[in-house]
Amino acid sequence: MQLLQDRRAIITGAAQGIGRAMVDSFVEHGATVLAIDIKPLDALHKNASHPEKLHSLQIDITQATAPERIMHAANEMLGGLDILVNNAGIASFMPITETSDVAWSEVLELNLSSVFRLCRDAVPLLKSSDSGRIINIGSVMSTFGGTGLAAYAASKHGVAGLTKCLASELGEFSITANFIQPGAILTDITRGSIRQYPEMETFWRNKAALGRWGEPADIAPVAVFLASDLGAFVSGTGVVADGAAMQAP
Ligand SMILES: NC(=O)c1ccc[n+]([C@@H]2O[C@H](COP(=O)([O-])OP(=O)(O)OC[C@H]3O[C@@H](n4cnc5c(N)ncnc54)[C@H](O)[C@@H]3O)[C@@H](O)[C@H]2O)c1
Repeated sequence: MQLLQDRRAIITGAAQGIGRAMVDSFVEHGATVLAIDIKPLDALHKNASHPEKLHSLQIDITQATAPERIMHAANEMLGGLDILVNNAGIASFMPITETSDVAWSEVLELNLSSVFRLCRDAVPLLKSSDSGRIINIGSVMSTFGGTGLAAYAASKHGVAGLTKCLASELGEFSITANFIQPGAILTDITRGSIRQYPEMETFWRNKAALGRWGEPADIAPVAVFLASDLGAFVSGTGVVADGAAMQAP
């Protein structure tokens, strides 16, 4: 019996990075996945180990109509929903004095408001599941702050608060809600930052007690655990996967 056999999942930000690794792992563990991204998802289909278990929708999740369209697609393509993974997000690095209202709103809209809307609109479907799961991708910046990270950290602290409230409100329907807190993971987001600030590469490698950057494949198994029956009594919490980078000195 596979860990996610016959489970139906939505994963946002699925075209690359952590989202793509989660799609691959979920499918390998037996789930059927609706992959969502603003970018084309053709490469995901082309390389899928079980193409029959993969569906996709190319859509900007910040659009007002996106949640309704995504839940409709889940009903049509998956026949319901057991697991919602909110992963799509953008990084931002800007000192507070250089952060415009527009830049602030852009980060908060994608990283927090779209997560809120998708969670809210998924609840009716998740209530019909006997093992509903919400997994939001936060960050170590859901707990900590840092220079240049005001908008990003505010959005990820928001994800933590939102998820804890979802866990409180939805427990009576046997729905769990948790957030994952990755540390520094090598993906397009961070490769771009490293190109801009090359010293970042050694900074985060040295900061992690495990002495390396994380890979998307380090995060996917955490999501599989939370989504599966193994995580049935874990709710309302953040799971840190950062190679012990944020330990107190
Ligand atoms: N990489 C890290 O070090 C790190 C650390 C902590 C948390 N995270 C979080 O993990 C998540 C995934 O990050 P990643 O590193 O894999 O980034 P990534 O840039 O590789 O992937 C993000 C995906 O989200 C998609 N996306 C962006 N805007 C969208 C929109 N409006 N609608 C639909 N899809 C959209 C992108 O097209 C992309 O495929 C993010 O929430 C990020 O904040 C990443």
